[in-house]
Amino acid sequence: MNNEVEKQVRRFYDEEGWVADESNTVAETTLFRDVGGGREIYDEKLKASLLKLLEKHDGRLMIVGSGDLPQSHVQAAQQFNKVVCIDISQRALDIGKQKLGDKGTYHLASILEAPLVDNSVDAVLCAHVLYHIDRYNQQRAVEEMIRITKTGGRIVIIYLNPNAPLMLIQRALKLFRVNKLLGKAKLYVHSYPINWWSQFESDCKVSVSGYDAISTNQARTLLPNKSMRSKFFNWASRFEDNHPRLAARLWSYVIVVLDKSHP
Ligand SMILES: C[S@@+](CC[C@H](N)C(=O)[O-])C[C@H]1O[C@@H](n2cnc3c(N)ncnc32)[C@H](O)[C@@H]1O
Repeated sequence: MNNEVEKQVRRFYDEEGWVADESNTVAETTLFRDVGGGREIYDEKLKASLLKLLEKHDGRLMIVGSGDLPQSHVQAAQQFNKVVCIDISQRALDIGKQKLGDKGTYHLASILEAPLVDNSVDAVLCAHVLYHIDRYNQQRAVEEMIRITKTGGRIVIIYLNPNAPLMLIQRALKLFRVNKLLGKAKLYVHSYPINWWSQFESDCKVSVSGYDAISTNQARTLLPNKSMRSKFFNWASRFEDNHPRLAARLWSYVIVVLDKSHP
């Protein structure tokens, strides 16, 4: 297995991503999350849609790449009796433990070598993690999540959509070495097109929906002021309500739900 990517990602999160500044903001937020206002209502909507996907599930939740346990993760955790956090970054687990305390167990491990037995969790949340795993290991990472999930359990994955129009433009710009839309490449990123997910249909019912219209770097470049961002996210919210299938193709992030149907 090629662990070079994992080493690079771990180093980034331990040495930079989960390090907080004097205002207690982690670098991940400054670098990749904060667009400077205008998407607050949209963010609340995304969080509600994520929580809804898990609301009929209880028992034991596994959070893969738990990171600094943002609010969406903490609220998802509240719906379960027990929570297992897995991350390759010790710094991530330390922050997670401060937020979840004894409700959680914390494993410094890769999902590729997850220390959990078969059929032992009721649901999985894996947000913005899989596309930071080496492209040749992503299938195995998903298979591991399926192995650990009980039959009837649900796996929710937030993933990048490489064929979204803005992603295609980004790749074209990269070819011409115009990197503004991309931001500085600090982390490995690779994502497969939506039809890659059909390989898991023998074990799971698979559904893919649009999740987030635009990445932070795209928003920072294309929507430079708050009023533009508010208008765009307002429009995006209405568009995805009216055209969910199109949103799954056009949006920069998708949410993949795997309902495990076979032992
Ligand atoms: C972009 S952050 C996402 C954090 C959080 N899930 C969120 O949505 O904000 C990615 C996290 O996944 C972790 N990670 C990356 N590769 C991993 C792997 N193979 N197994 C477990 N965690 C991993 C990183 O250390 C980091 O904490």
